[in-house]
Amino acid sequence: MSAGAIRASKNDGGVRRPGVSYGEKLTVLIRHAAIQKRVREVAREITKDFRGERVHLVGVLKGACIFLSDVVREIGLETSIDFIAVSSYGKGKESSGQVRLLKDLDSSIAGLNVILVEDILDTGLTISYLLRILRQRKPKALRVAALLDKPSRRLRDVKGDYVGFPIPNEFVVGYGLDYAERFRNLKDVCVLSIPAEPR
Ligand code: IMP
Ligand code: MG
Repeated sequence: MSAGAIRASKNDGGVRRPGVSYGEKLTVLIRHAAIQKRVREVAREITKDFRGERVHLVGVLKGACIFLSDVVREIGLETSIDFIAVSSYGKGKESSGQVRLLKDLDSSIAGLNVILVEDILDTGLTISYLLRILRQRKPKALRVAALLDKPSRRLRDVKGDYVGFPIPNEFVVGYGLDYAERFRNLKDVCVLSIPAEPR
């Protein structure tokens, strides 16, 4: 099997992959090679849009860390990076609907071309909260880059300026995205099915 390939069905026919618990099933949705290709395209778009300028990437911890670290290396401009952390999700698959700032930026973004980098746009609550607080700090430009987008779930009217892949309404993990902090290290983006909770 090639490096990074994930045999999701029946958890490898009984041979469990590390980190996959009994009854959980991973099904590949987007392969690593397709992600890499799309990440290069997104970086090219950013490079074209900000030609001759510096871009300041703000990663939303922790989900965006892998996407950010891949995309920044493909951008052909002067760059800088910072991170912000928010919490909106509990331990499971559902958002609490409330966004809290857990870690603020290390430095000012006034006058900078800021690209907010997210793993996924879902309800849009997180990104609309972050756009609101960052806009007040007077960046020169403020854009959103997201690896994934679930437009059917939107509760706020927000759009990504740079979107890797629109996806259906499925819970996905891998390439930075987690389920209760697990699976961030998968190279592919996979749909996670878990057994229903006993009543
Ligand atoms: P939103 O505020 O509902 O748009 O949620 C955005 C955040 O929820 C993302 O940054 C993710 O951390 C998390 N999230 C939303 N959908 C998924 C998913 O399918 N898998 C893993 N995390 C998700
Ligand atoms: Mg996130």
